Amino acid sequence: MCGIVGYVGDRQAAEFLLDGLSKLEYRGYDSAGIAVYENGKIRIEKSVGRLAALREQIKGRMPVGSLGIGHTRWATHGRPSDVNAHPHADCHGDFAVVHNGIIENYLSLKEDLIAKGHEFKSETDTEVVAHLLEEVYAGDFVAAVREVLRRIEGSYALAFMSKEHPDMLICTKQDNPLIIGLGEGENFIASDIPAIISRTRRTYILGDGELAVVRKDGIQVTDRAGQLVTKKVFEVTWNAEAAEKGGYEHFMLKEIHEQPKAVRDTMSQRITNDKKAISFEELAWNADYLNSFNKIYIVACGTAYHAGLVGKYYIEKLARVLVEVDVASEFRYRDPIVDGSTLLIVVSQSGETSDTLAALKESKRRGAKTLAITNVVGSSIAREADQVVYTWAGPEIAVASTKAYTTQLVLFFMLALYMAEIKGAILPARTAELVTQLQEIPSQVSEILSDVEPIKTFAKQYGFNEDVFYIGRGLDYSVSLEGALKLKEISYIHAEAYAAGELKHGTLALIVEGVPVIALATQRNVYEKTLSNIKEVKARDAVVIGIAAEGDTELQKYVDHVIYVPATDEFIMPILSVIPLQLLSYYAAITRGCDVDKPRNLAKSVTVE
Ligand code: AGP
Repeated sequence: MCGIVGYVGDRQAAEFLLDGLSKLEYRGYDSAGIAVYENGKIRIEKSVGRLAALREQIKGRMPVGSLGIGHTRWATHGRPSDVNAHPHADCHGDFAVVHNGIIENYLSLKEDLIAKGHEFKSETDTEVVAHLLEEVYAGDFVAAVREVLRRIEGSYALAFMSKEHPDMLICTKQDNPLIIGLGEGENFIASDIPAIISRTRRTYILGDGELAVVRKDGIQVTDRAGQLVTKKVFEVTWNAEAAEKGGYEHFMLKEIHEQPKAVRDTMSQRITNDKKAISFEELAWNADYLNSFNKIYIVACGTAYHAGLVGKYYIEKLARVLVEVDVASEFRYRDPIVDGSTLLIVVSQSGETSDTLAALKESKRRGAKTLAITNVVGSSIAREADQVVYTWAGPEIAVASTKAYTTQLVLFFMLALYMAEIKGAILPARTAELVTQLQEIPSQVSEILSDVEPIKTFAKQYGFNEDVFYIGRGLDYSVSLEGALKLKEISYIHAEAYAAGELKHGTLALIVEGVPVIALATQRNVYEKTLSNIKEVKARDAVVIGIAAEGDTELQKYVDHVIYVPATDEFIMPILSVIPLQLLSYYAAITRGCDVDKPRNLAKSVTVE
């Protein structure tokens, strides 16, 4: 997820661009840049690091001009660096472009352009767009942009400027947000409302496939076929702070609702074109490589550790390889059995967690091969590991991890399928069936998020309890751990997750009348056993909220309430069953007046031991 801005008018573009980008840093902040039409040329200034580094770079020598575009980056292709920062230009600096999204066919386009003599400076997919524009341009800026759009595939929000057309910007979008701010004698482009709200509250919300030609005195919007589109003015009523959260009250709720897109983006490019298998171009593993390991460790902290527990289940079940999961703070000090036959997989949203990084370094020292699963391109853990696969969840601002967790599960599932295929441990037909189910997840998550009222009600009803228990078996137990952590860390309610079969070995002593128990029952192979554990707690007058797959008519006979999630393959249920638990924690925290995004004592990234 990146932030885009654009300005055309009579005032200094650079001033708006920098201010607008500062309001979009929540969308990405590993590098930033601006391009301004100055003295007949396009001047580009860009820098790795936060926006402050760019401000420092141009201090005292701000670009002068009233047409420009800007970008703050969340890297997906190409690590954070000056040269990979946007805007990107063509060979001669006649065009500049900023981009949010993923150009899925950029490699083939780049090869073709290089063969035609284009020279690239960056590792990004975006730079291909600038050279493609140069390649197809024949004097008509709009026609050239349309031709570029016909050739690229993927998701994008794009803004273009041309040296030969200093009176206009062109912008367009597909699956990524882009708005136009309507000023007086000036107009603005932005990924999101926060960037423009201080200048205007009147906006056009661009639709997929729409292309806008933005001049200071007017905007022309056309559709893919070039037909004029009449846009309705959308009046922004939010205040600036609310706007940064996309109108949501908290970043956590916004990030919960971003999960359909985060999951879709994380899957994209890793499902083969025939939609029947998985490919990890960034890994290029083979049977010899996999067979060289006699053990896999998954090591992480907190929510990432909980994702690792699910990952273990996936890899062992699908690829039939032994996996051990451990918390990094324990692993690094227990003199683990690690050598050249070990594959260590570390999981970290931030890529900066010190215990996880230390476990990674220790394992490398002992000869292990290492793979990182992280959400931050170029992070310390990404750079330290031998290989890295990225979740493409976009920046996760709230301390409580949500979209990072679900995208980690998706990555683990795809990795397990990929390993199983390589080892011949799964039939192609079964792989195709699971890949089909995988592609249903974004819409299934959207379906859960479309009706949060029942969950809000439960949260209000039970949000004041001092003790809540989460129980489940198998994958349901792993998700229970994540549910309990969510509740603890943002609502400060003591919550405990227990393997349902373990209750009678002690914890049942704590189950008395009225104690809320969240019981996950989505795993068919242990369903009857889970039911009997639910009866155990009901026999002690606990209040039980069940989490079940749609179509389950049995569970409701034994619990007080049921929250249903769409039915899918058991493997995939954890990615859905965690959503109600995230929402339950969020609304319980709201009920208790807690600081949801910044809970007491906690930090987003624990970079100390
Ligand atoms: C999860 O909600 C917490 N914020 C915390 O447990 C977090 O998952 C843990 O600190 C690991 O962080 P990482 O994924 O950035 O390494």
